[in-house]
Amino acid sequence: MFSGKARAYTNIALIKYWGKENQELIIPMNNSLSLTLDAFYTETHVTFSEEITEDQFYLDNQLQDSKATLKVSRFLNVIRDKADCSLQAIVKSKNFVPTAAGLASSASGLAALAGAASAALDLTLSSEELSRLARRGSGSACRSVYGGFAEWQKGDSDESSYAVNIPSYGFEDDLSMIFVVVNDAQKDVSSRDGMQRTVETSAFYDGWLQTVPTDLAKAKQAIVEKDFTALGEVTEASALKMHGTTLAATPPFTYWSAESMKVMNLVRQIRSRGLPCYFTMDAGPNVKILVERKNEETLLRALKEQLGNQQLVVAHAGPAIEILTEEEVK
Ligand code: ADP
Ligand code: DP6
Repeated sequence: MFSGKARAYTNIALIKYWGKENQELIIPMNNSLSLTLDAFYTETHVTFSEEITEDQFYLDNQLQDSKATLKVSRFLNVIRDKADCSLQAIVKSKNFVPTAAGLASSASGLAALAGAASAALDLTLSSEELSRLARRGSGSACRSVYGGFAEWQKGDSDESSYAVNIPSYGFEDDLSMIFVVVNDAQKDVSSRDGMQRTVETSAFYDGWLQTVPTDLAKAKQAIVEKDFTALGEVTEASALKMHGTTLAATPPFTYWSAESMKVMNLVRQIRSRGLPCYFTMDAGPNVKILVERKNEETLLRALKEQLGNQQLVVAHAGPAIEILTEEEVK
């Protein structure tokens, strides 16, 4: 028996990944840039054993069905190939984040699985190699290998597509991200299916792709200059453009709900009253708001006044993936 455990934190993209050049290898159409967060994470324990004949996948103590297990098995095959291992595995994972609700469980989930399984099989991987591996499970997972800001450099092959850390000299510690969880139910269109549909059918997809390099450069410059306004503006713009592509897909779809729009409008209103804050959204109806940490309390008060009992979760920059020992698992 060979066991390994890991904890990985979610990341939220400020410049979004949306679309794949290669679906099998998960090579993206564009570079993306994210902030890893401390509030949501996954812990995963993997045991490769001679005593079982097929992979078993438990998520939050529930044995998962064959479809969910197949996804995990396919990913484990990549690791088994690398380590020349033919043993089946028991995967026990806990999401301290709602699953498949647009809160990036796939990023923390697949990064934790990559970390735990590679540790179990004694693969000694650099951060870039672990990022490449996590990418094979879910694209956004390759960024969760790092704490703080990360850029996924798209590359054009399995070897050249991975994330790197973006040094920010403490800027990430000046930031907060407030999650407005309007609905934590599982979404209808997964990010995987949604992005594929827009690549294949959306008339707006080319427009999205053309603007990413400029937006990415603006975001990186804003990080170097610790310019919150510039980072917030480009973050919001990137999310709006990404979500714009879904409206022109066939069949069209949107991840926005009436509640999401209410929150986005509220962010604009609060900003127009002089408090700098900017929203972003992923493949689900929940809204994430980027604000300077010094303004976090004021923003929370303003949000609570308007949203009442909406679930608000405050996050700050989170750490890199952690390979755990037995005692460290909660
Ligand atoms: P999200 O917005 O939560 O990232 P996605 O639809 O992109 O939603 O991804 C959700 C999928 O990620 C799940 O259906 C499952 O396949 C995978 N996933 C989530 N958590 C885990 C986990 N802890 N271990 C393995 N796979 C996971
Ligand atoms: C909107 O990484 O979940 O959150 O690579 O198919 O697993 P797959 O997709 P996933 O997509 C994330 C999309 C996004 C934007 C982002 O995180 O960059």
